[in-house]
Amino acid sequence: MKIKVECRELAQVSCDLLVVNVFAGQKKLDGATAAADKALGGMITSLLKDGEITGKLGQITLLHWSGKLKAGKIAVVGLGEQSKIDLEAVRTASAAAIKAARESKAKKVATIVHGCGCGETDPVEAAKAVVEGSVLGVYRFAGYAKDKEETEFAPAELVLFDHDRAKIGKLSRGAKLGLIIAEAENHARDLVNMPANRMTPSVFAALAKRIAKINRLKFTQLDPKKAGMELFWAVAKGSNEPPKLIALEYRGAPRSKEKIALIGKGITFDSGGISLKPSKNMDEMKSDMAGAAAVLGVMSLLSDLKPKHNVIGIIPLTENMPSGHATKPGDIVGSLSGYTVEVTNTDAEGRMILGDAITYAKKRGATKMIDIATLTGGAIVALGDAATAVMGNDQTLVDQVLAAGNRSGQKMWQLPIYDEYKESMKSQVADLKNTAGTGKAQPSTGAAFLSKFVGDTPWAHLDIAGTAFLQKSRGYLPEGATGVPVRTLIELLNG
Ligand code: BES
Ligand code: ZN
Ligand code: ZN
Repeated sequence: MKIKVECRELAQVSCDLLVVNVFAGQKKLDGATAAADKALGGMITSLLKDGEITGKLGQITLLHWSGKLKAGKIAVVGLGEQSKIDLEAVRTASAAAIKAARESKAKKVATIVHGCGCGETDPVEAAKAVVEGSVLGVYRFAGYAKDKEETEFAPAELVLFDHDRAKIGKLSRGAKLGLIIAEAENHARDLVNMPANRMTPSVFAALAKRIAKINRLKFTQLDPKKAGMELFWAVAKGSNEPPKLIALEYRGAPRSKEKIALIGKGITFDSGGISLKPSKNMDEMKSDMAGAAAVLGVMSLLSDLKPKHNVIGIIPLTENMPSGHATKPGDIVGSLSGYTVEVTNTDAEGRMILGDAITYAKKRGATKMIDIATLTGGAIVALGDAATAVMGNDQTLVDQVLAAGNRSGQKMWQLPIYDEYKESMKSQVADLKNTAGTGKAQPSTGAAFLSKFVGDTPWAHLDIAGTAFLQKSRGYLPEGATGVPVRTLIELLNG
């Protein structure tokens, strides 16, 4: 979808679908919506009076007659209550409008920039949110069917317009930002939605190498076995697919010693290994590399966004499979850090590959670390698919992550790492065991395991098991992969 920003009076806007808006309970229309109403002979006002248009957030009323306007159809989208308007409401309304455009087969869509007409939100942020909501909302995974309709319809062009020339520069800046960020998040969604036979560690690594080259990022690829990553190898050795650890490095502050490591769990399929998962919904475990996809999505943007930070993306990639070569429950293995681990459950594999990836990040000079992982079903028990669980050893960094999540509309909620959880990860026969074995507080005990490898380096851990993959679409989030938390990490680096 092409995005444009134009300075136009409503009457000059020519398109297949024109999007205007109303707030819930709004009595008197204003701005472009009032002008549209006038051109329509008061139709919007009368539908408001009838109660057909409520202004409820995301409600769409499609008008098939556009009076004197140069628009094929008009969509009136609800913004919810005026006092509650925020960027997330703008994204949700924009997604509803673009979906209506797709259903009514509108090629060219023109929209007013929700939320900035009366100065509710900053024009840069409002335009960014309109584009994010539209580009994320129109996303569909293409799939592989031979029989699908040859040209599945999608709007080709979205024009954001405003009559105020003074605003156009800011709107353009926001729209451009919104487009590159939303496209990166959609790309991450694609990688997660791809099935495990087509998104193997080798396929992922080859793609990352290409992305690194295009963006002039330093690229490293290691064989974990040769590199002494015994803990990582203990997960990988049951699979026929060769594992890989890859790193992409961006230097936005060449004179600074600071280096932020983004570490993404890249299990391209999690069968559970010898501690085999039940078969119901096991297919969803193709999404166990959502952390890896998010990190690659972020790294792919940095050369464009140019944040003044040094960032290294580190991605351990492997399958977790049962076989005659697989690690068995009870096995004791070493690690890059030197700590030994008793593997009590081979399905707690994410923390094993991350343990070595974290040690590697420190060896590469990381001064701050954020890991992103579909780590525990317990995160879904605690927070459902509404929020990502955030933990860490540095409250300042955790607070920065929570604030960035708030700005991006990707909800984050902190869980603790109490000493009790660290205690429960101690083994009788090794330095650590990989599960506490109690079934309790799994996000926190998982984080407690990781904290041993982290040591004192400031670190935040994002457990995205609940938020990375949805069974049912919601607002601008599709069924399947969501792309969480690409936008939050960008906010964090750019904010
Ligand atoms: N990949 C899973 C976690 C998961 C579950 C992600 C559901 C998304 C949806 C992870 O590797 C796992 O299996 N974790 C175990 C940990 C347990 C053995 C301590 C779990 O959640 O059961
Ligand atoms: Zn697992
Ligand atoms: Zn897993």
